[in-house]
Amino acid sequence: MRFSAPVALLVSLAALAQAQQFVNFGQTCSSIQLVGSGATQQLEATCRNTSSGDNGAQVIALSTCLTNINGSLRCQFNGNALASCTGCSLSGTSLTCSCAENGTGQSDSTTIDLNTCIGNQNGRMFC
Ligand SMILES: *[C@@H]1O[C@H](CO)[C@@H](O)[C@H](O)[C@H]1NC(C)=O
Ligand SMILES: *[C@@H]1O[C@H](CO)[C@@H](O)[C@H](O)[C@H]1NC(C)=O
Ligand SMILES: *[C@@H]1O[C@H](CO)[C@@H](O)[C@H](O)[C@H]1NC(C)=O
Repeated sequence: MRFSAPVALLVSLAALAQAQQFVNFGQTCSSIQLVGSGATQQLEATCRNTSSGDNGAQVIALSTCLTNINGSLRCQFNGNALASCTGCSLSGTSLTCSCAENGTGQSDSTTIDLNTCIGNQNGRMFC
């Protein structure tokens, strides 16, 4: 499909605006750690509000942002990953969990970069 120049510009601006919401979680949040355990385990971080310049503690539940697809973690809003994943650990922004496969009775070690799922918007983590 070909767009006229103004339409192409609008399309790329819209894509840029959307992309910007999801960048810089790792760069603008610090002290990133896991808190709690089980289905309600959360990610906690101190995040910079780029509008005000303030830094504040924020939490978001991992299950709010992740799902388990047959033993692999994927980004998905309200994906409920921790209903079928256990033993999560964090290294920087990389989350590793053991996630159950569908129907095989086995679990796989799976890692995802939370930067691909979680953004910082005005000091608040979201996905
Ligand atoms: C971030 O700063 C803006 C502007 O001061 C403010 O409206 C917003 O509520 C702040 N966000 C948080 C999470 O406090
Ligand atoms: C899940 O993954 C296992 C191991 O790779 C595979 O044997 C099985 O067929 C997969 N199940 C589904 C529903 O994709
Ligand atoms: C695999 O498991 C997920 C989560 O438990 C479930 O939503 C999905 O329907 C299952 N898929 C298959 C093919 O069994």
